[in-house]
Amino acid sequence: MIDVDRIRKDFPIYSKQPNLIYLDSAASSLKVSSVIDKIDNYYQTLGVNVHRGAYDLAYEATRLYEEARETVSEFIHAKNEEIIFTRGTTSSLNMIAGSYRNILKPGDEIITSELEHHSSLLPWMVTAKHTGAKLVYIPLNEEGRITVDAFQSVLSDRTKVVALTHVSNALGFLTQIKEITKLAHEKKAVVILDAAQSAPHMKLDVVDLDVDFMAFSGHKMFGPSGVGVLFGKEALLNLLEPFEYGGEMADEVYKDHATWKDAPLRFEAGTPVISGAIGLAEAIRYINKIGFDSIHAHTHALQQYTLEKMSHIEGLAIYNASSENPVITFNINDIHPHDIATMLDQYHVSVRAGHHCAQLVNKFLGVSSTLRASFHIYNSYADCDAFVASVIAAKNFFEGF
Ligand code: ALA
Repeated sequence: MIDVDRIRKDFPIYSKQPNLIYLDSAASSLKVSSVIDKIDNYYQTLGVNVHRGAYDLAYEATRLYEEARETVSEFIHAKNEEIIFTRGTTSSLNMIAGSYRNILKPGDEIITSELEHHSSLLPWMVTAKHTGAKLVYIPLNEEGRITVDAFQSVLSDRTKVVALTHVSNALGFLTQIKEITKLAHEKKAVVILDAAQSAPHMKLDVVDLDVDFMAFSGHKMFGPSGVGVLFGKEALLNLLEPFEYGGEMADEVYKDHATWKDAPLRFEAGTPVISGAIGLAEAIRYINKIGFDSIHAHTHALQQYTLEKMSHIEGLAIYNASSENPVITFNINDIHPHDIATMLDQYHVSVRAGHHCAQLVNKFLGVSSTLRASFHIYNSYADCDAFVASVIAAKNFFEGF
């Protein structure tokens, strides 16, 4: 059971913004004080580089950085060699799509979907343009979900890459990625999973899912912005050309060529995001302490409670009542979502309005934009009540014109 009053003591923003009703965790979560303390401690007591220095401070910084890698690998059941620290999900996905420019050939197919966030779609669109490979979309079902049957209908011997979201950022729908991966592997295609929205809400086990690459960010799971993870199967990673060239990633350098280290250093050219990795590891320890079962039970209950209240408001279109992630996406009659969001802000309610960097979702829904409320462990039933009251107030206000 989540005790929201106690949880809020871990998030310093609530002492500074006591009226805050934060329902935009799918964009970025609030930050935990222990994470902030760890980052602060690194800068206050170390602040030096990793992997390079033969002195005490450098050894300690390297120990903390590599300990962070171990925390991440345990979190998703990977090996340390399979965890690459990046700038975030967007970087991780661009890195993989970029490296496949050397691998894909004209006629090869990349399976994707209209549910993708732009960071899971655009890198592959550009890689397809560069290589002559073709983007193939899984037809979504009526509700907007990816189904295993629909995936099978586009899977073929030409499929080389399957790049999919685990949980849609716009609609919260969960993809049955384990089943899809099994089918993709029968065709010898690799599966790249965008786990940015699932990592903060559910246990990810890369051995069980068997995906080949997976990406997620620190800032959506109580950690810092500017750090993320690229998981890749060890055997595959060491076949890939590095994405960037520079310090600490080369093995031997000659005048006319060079050789590369194995993963993960092969993919971490230059000074890595040391404080970010240390902060992310602390965020993972915080999540582990609370446990995904409690996180899910709490956020699911808030989502259901809010949906029930919203069902009594006339003129509301809710697009994802069955969503597995705690996300409610909606519109109010013909009122522009940005006007509603601005009005909700007057009530201290923070939600996201727009296309959520997933424009194909809006095109699928036939709307130009939507409103999205998303929940996490620091939200209370009082937040849900205030949110619903503010939606009613905004609706009444704009309908009064
Ligand atoms: N991808 C983030 C969102 O869905 C920023 O809001």
